[in-house]
Amino acid sequence: MIDYHPLSETAHGDEIWPLYRRMRDEAPVYYLEEFDCFFLTRFRDIWELLPHPGISVANGQTTIDLLLGQVASRGKGEALASSDPPYQTALRKAIMKRFSPTSARGLEGRTRELVRGFVDDVRERGRLDAIGDLAMRLSVRIACTIIGIPLEESDRLADDVNTFFERDAASEGTTAAGQDASARLFEYVESLVAERISSPDDGDGDLVDALLQVEIDGRKLSQEALLGTLQLAVVGGTETLPKVFAACAYRLWQHPEQRARVAADPAGLAQDAFWETLRYDMPTQMLGRTVTRELEVNGTRVRPGQKLMFLWPSANRDEREFADPDRFDVERRAPRILSFGHATHRCLGAHVAQMEGRILLEELLALDPEYEVVEDEIVRIRSEFFRGFSAMPIRFSPRN
Ligand code: HEM
Repeated sequence: MIDYHPLSETAHGDEIWPLYRRMRDEAPVYYLEEFDCFFLTRFRDIWELLPHPGISVANGQTTIDLLLGQVASRGKGEALASSDPPYQTALRKAIMKRFSPTSARGLEGRTRELVRGFVDDVRERGRLDAIGDLAMRLSVRIACTIIGIPLEESDRLADDVNTFFERDAASEGTTAAGQDASARLFEYVESLVAERISSPDDGDGDLVDALLQVEIDGRKLSQEALLGTLQLAVVGGTETLPKVFAACAYRLWQHPEQRARVAADPAGLAQDAFWETLRYDMPTQMLGRTVTRELEVNGTRVRPGQKLMFLWPSANRDEREFADPDRFDVERRAPRILSFGHATHRCLGAHVAQMEGRILLEELLALDPEYEVVEDEIVRIRSEFFRGFSAMPIRFSPRN
C-alpha cells in the first residue's frame, strides 16, 4: 500500500524518490480524503491538465494553503497568480515584455557585474555560500530591478522572503513569523506604489509602471491585484533561483567529469547544466488547483470543489517522459520539463531565471573549476513546499 502524505517527513529525504516512482506506477492519481485532493505524479497527466479550463487558482490558494485552507498572504484577489483567464491572460500580456527573452538579455551585463562583485567580496576568504553569498543576493536584486524597487531595500526583502518560507515543527504550513513577513512584504509594495503615484516620473518602464498603466476591459487594476502581483514578483523572483543554483553547484561537484566539460565550454554547456538541474532537482514540491467543472484525469473522475496537486519533482523524473530519469546528465537537453510549470501560469521569470543561473555558474567555474562542496556543512530545507538546500558552502582556490 502506498503511504504518501504531503506533510510527512519522508518528503525531505531521498526516500521520496522510490515513493514517487511507486505512485507513478501504481497510483498516478492518488487521493487523500483528509484534503479531498488528488496528487498527480506523472508528467503527461500534469502537462495535459494545466491548460484545462476546468481548473482554477481564483481562490488564491495553490500552495499548502490549498490543503490547509490557510490564507498566507493578502492581496490575492485578481493578482496574476490568483486569477483565471481571460482576465489573467490580459494581465499577463500587459506585463510580459518585462520578462521577455530580450529583457533577460538586457539584464545580462548588470547580472554579470553584480555576480563578479559578490565573488570579489569573498575571494580572500576562499569560501562562499552559493546561496547567501551569491545566488540570493543576485536574484533579489534582479527582481528589484525588474519591479522598480531601490536596491538598498533588497537584502531586507530577501530576509522577509526567507522567513515567509521557513517552517517549524510546531506548525503546519506558513508559520506566524512567516505570515508577519508576508504582511511586511505587502506593506512594502503598498508604500512603493503610493510613492510612485505621488511622484510618477520615477519609474523607468519597470513593472510598477506597467501595472499602474494596465487597463483590462476599460478598468484599471484593483489595488489588491496590483499589490498582490508585485508581492508575487518579489517572492517568485527571489526565492527559487538560489535553490536551483545551489543544487547545480552540488550536482556538478558530485560529477567532476561533467563539471570539467562545462568548465571547458561554458558558452556551450552552462545553460544546459542549469536546465538539467531544473529537471533533476526542482525545489518546489507541489502546487495545485481547485476543480471548477467535472473532469477526468487518467481515468479518474474529479468533481467541482475537489483539489489537484501537481508533484513537479516526480513528473520531472517520470520514466515515461525521460530516459533513465535518475541520471544527471548536463547534455540531456530535455525538450520539455515542468519546472517552470506549463500553459496558463507558466513562470513569467523563466528567461530571467535561466540567464541568472547560467551567469552564476559561469562565474563560479571561472573562480575555480575544481571547487569543493563542504558536504557536512550543507543545510537542507525542512518544508513541505521546498526540497533542497538553504546553504551550500563551497571552498575554492581562485584561479586568477
Ligand atoms: C529557477 C527559478 C524559478 C522557478 C523554478 C520558477 C517556477 C515557477 C512555477 C512552477 C510557476 C507556475 C506556478 C503555477 O503554475 O501555479 C511560476 C510562476 C511565476 N513565476 Fe517563477 N520560477 C522561477 C523564477 C522566477 C523569477 C526569477 C521570476 C521573476 C523575475 C518569477 C516570476 C514568476 C511569476 C510572476 C509567476 C506567475 C505567472 C502567472 O501566474 O501567470 N519566477 N514560477
